[in-house]
Amino acid sequence: MSATYVGAPWVDKYRPKKISDIIGNQEAVQQFVSWLKAWKPGAKPALLHGPPGVGKTVTVEVAAQELGYELIALNASDVRSADAIKRTLGPASHYGTIFGQRGRLIFLDEVDGISTAEDRGGLTAVLELIREARTPIALAANDPWDPKLRPLREACLMIRFNKVRVTQLVPFLRKICEAEGVKADERALRIIADLAEGDVRSAINDLQAVAGGRKVLKPEDVEWLRARNRQYGAFDVLKMLFMARTAKEAKEVINSSLIDYETLLQWVHENLPLQYTDPEELAKAYDALSLADVYLGRAKRKQRWELLRYFFDLMTAGVALARKGKYHFVKYQFPKKILMMSRTKKARELREEAIRIIASKCHLSRRAAKTEILPFLSIMLPTPMGQGIAKWLGLSDDMVKILVHEG
Ligand SMILES: Nc1ncnc2c1ncn2[C@@H]1O[C@H](COP(=O)(O)OP(=O)(O)OP(=O)(O)O)[C@@H](O)[C@H]1O
Ligand SMILES: [Mg+2]
Repeated sequence: MSATYVGAPWVDKYRPKKISDIIGNQEAVQQFVSWLKAWKPGAKPALLHGPPGVGKTVTVEVAAQELGYELIALNASDVRSADAIKRTLGPASHYGTIFGQRGRLIFLDEVDGISTAEDRGGLTAVLELIREARTPIALAANDPWDPKLRPLREACLMIRFNKVRVTQLVPFLRKICEAEGVKADERALRIIADLAEGDVRSAINDLQAVAGGRKVLKPEDVEWLRARNRQYGAFDVLKMLFMARTAKEAKEVINSSLIDYETLLQWVHENLPLQYTDPEELAKAYDALSLADVYLGRAKRKQRWELLRYFFDLMTAGVALARKGKYHFVKYQFPKKILMMSRTKKARELREEAIRIIASKCHLSRRAAKTEILPFLSIMLPTPMGQGIAKWLGLSDDMVKILVHEG
């Protein structure tokens, strides 16, 4: 995966260190800071809410640090029972502020993760915690509007975070490029910012995927992000798939999606270990998926498309029915393989073009050019003789570079 990301993730590297580093949402950030400064026992907790990747978590973390609070953070989707919450937070919430010393700030992130019925105990515990707390409590959620969360909303000061504007994102991305030594075209940054739809995290991740390790960034370098974005329906498809309770339900997922099946296979593959944490479930699901892959390969190689039926069934029903317990909410990830393939698209195109040229110059099939000529040519290219051959073939400098790299 080193081809996709060079070095540390930029979302970490360029994570705001001070309150003033946070872009956009100035009003919400100020509201939170004032709330924290003014907090005294009996005051409401603050519930930061809004779309993903706009700075809710980072605001709490940075504000706590800057104002000298000790942060006790808990991701609410990790905590599914009253017991667990109490065990972790109970003692911490009772300690009052020792005079002359700054206190603790309890942070319950992603509280919408506890909204389902089975987790009622979790919600009750949170409400209880809020009632008894002698320390400020901050909560964060993407979607606090679930009717079941109403008591929570009523108990909290609601602080709304919004999508970050393109006009704020572009200068931010430009600064990162400057720090990374990338000369970025304004239009390229604009495309990234547009596609992020207000999500700073996704903008930074995209920027790293397209610009990491480069010196210049042109609009054509980011075009593939558009094609990728059309796949975002995949998140919903995965959710439907993993939630399915019967084979029939699972199989119907295929029909409800425009995503091509090989792409879906990548998505399922990438997200299996996130969805299934129980080893037995995971093993079962992987069994089904690997068998699905076998059928897919056979169907394609032998042009026996009737075999795809088994592929579909195994990838959907086989994977979904591996689940023993109840469905639980996870954040799905974009398949790394697709990211990498898109990233290396240009390289693959150049390679294909080189194969085409070799085939036509040497009067060979493309297959023969690929298996019989290319491997030797790649090794020879750095030598004067190899260079002569490249010249005779009429390969471009870019093609030679790619092939030398392979050799
Ligand atoms: N407003 C912002 N200013 C600067 N960087 C940001 C901002 N929002 C997000 N980021 C970047 O994106 C990353 C994720 O941000 P953060 O975790 O605060 O998002 P969030 O709103 O809590 O999202 P989620 O709803 O998914 O939890 C941060 O590490 C930071 O690099
Ligand atoms: Mg967050």
